[in-house]
Amino acid sequence: MIIEPRMRGFICLTSHPVGCEKNVLNQIEYTRKKGIIDGPKKVLVIGASTGFGLSSRITSAFGANAATIGVFFEKPPSSGKTASPGWYNSAAFQKEAANAGIYAKSINGDAFSDAIKKKTIDLIKQDLGKIDLVIYSLASPVKTNPKTGITHRSVLKPIGQTFSNKTVDFHTGIVSDVTIEPCSEEDIANTVEVMGGDDWKLWIQALIDADVLADQAMTLAYSYIGPQVTKAIYREGTIGKAKDHLEATAFEIQDLLKPLEGSAFISVNKALVTQASSAIPVIPLYISLLYKTMKEKDLHEGCIEQINRLFRERLYIKDEIPLDTKGRIRIDDWEMREDVQNEITKLWKLADTSTLPEIGDLNGYKSDFLNLFGFGFDGVDYNEDVNENIDINGLV
Ligand code: NAD
Ligand code: NA
Repeated sequence: MIIEPRMRGFICLTSHPVGCEKNVLNQIEYTRKKGIIDGPKKVLVIGASTGFGLSSRITSAFGANAATIGVFFEKPPSSGKTASPGWYNSAAFQKEAANAGIYAKSINGDAFSDAIKKKTIDLIKQDLGKIDLVIYSLASPVKTNPKTGITHRSVLKPIGQTFSNKTVDFHTGIVSDVTIEPCSEEDIANTVEVMGGDDWKLWIQALIDADVLADQAMTLAYSYIGPQVTKAIYREGTIGKAKDHLEATAFEIQDLLKPLEGSAFISVNKALVTQASSAIPVIPLYISLLYKTMKEKDLHEGCIEQINRLFRERLYIKDEIPLDTKGRIRIDDWEMREDVQNEITKLWKLADTSTLPEIGDLNGYKSDFLNLFGFGFDGVDYNEDVNENIDINGLV
């Protein structure tokens, strides 16, 4: 069929298999051009189909020739409907890995469940023996706790005070004021349950118990800090409490890994357009000013640039991994540079519907958003009739 983007609010209901493949091919090409990394050999990526997790999988496989197992939760194509983008991304990844003779298998299901953890461990035992790197890159609005059976939903709200600031509808470019009422105590607990570190720790404990982690195995999860303007809604809001919890869990996992001389890290990444970040008020306006500023300074990066820099200049270097005072890896260093943030503070005051096209990178935002769903890529003929019924080879 001929597939066009169908937007509804902050999501796109369709995705394009050829465009998603192009996205994966571009990331592979970028990684290969950077040369070989003396890096991981056998990698498990939890949340491997989109965003930072997909880029982590590509960097491992095509940067370091690593065998990868990817876990994700994506919708297959069905009765005339396209699959979710992560499905097509994973199909393309598997195809390219097979062409290159690199081991890759994928598991589609709920990573929070005991069943998917067991399935993953069985696959590791059968095919790889032991894993030396575990990337935890889940982003989800909901989690069913496997022990209690209770389903929790995360929220994006400020804590203790009403929050008001500017935001933009990136489809129309209209800048308006948004006011968000503070959360309840329950909201905080639910958000920490979904996006905090409990599930990461359960994964590592299960991998240790099954004896499928190699000596000196490493694990990492991704966090975000961000600027002053988003503080009340992000880092000091409900999601920030979950990130505090995730970051504290890294130290607990570090202790679990002591007998193996392994290590657990948090990497603080930069703000990027993803399905998740587009739904957070204020963030799209911040990102459009950030993109403009970083592009002008020739500092702009997407997921694949960030993760290549993480592997090549932080994780797999001769010296010790450089950490901040709270023990975290920082690849948000360019976003947080003083000159970048000062510029954004200046632009923030000027931003309104009439100035934004000039002072912000709204087009860059829109194009990145379309790209998430496989739309807007050069070299893809969107008028062509394409097959949406794509299988993922290597799906277990
Ligand atoms: P994303 O939405 O692009 O990727 C989420 C991944 O998790 C997908 O592979 C999806 O299939 C998988 N997933 C979701 N629920 C699942 C489930 N129940 N079982 C199995 N898989 C499931 O998200 P992202 O933006 O790449 O975020 C990944 C991490 O990076 C998050 O911790 C996020 O907070 C962090 N981060 C994001 C940004 C940003 O600006 N986007 C910045 C810094 C850090
Ligand atoms: Na991800």
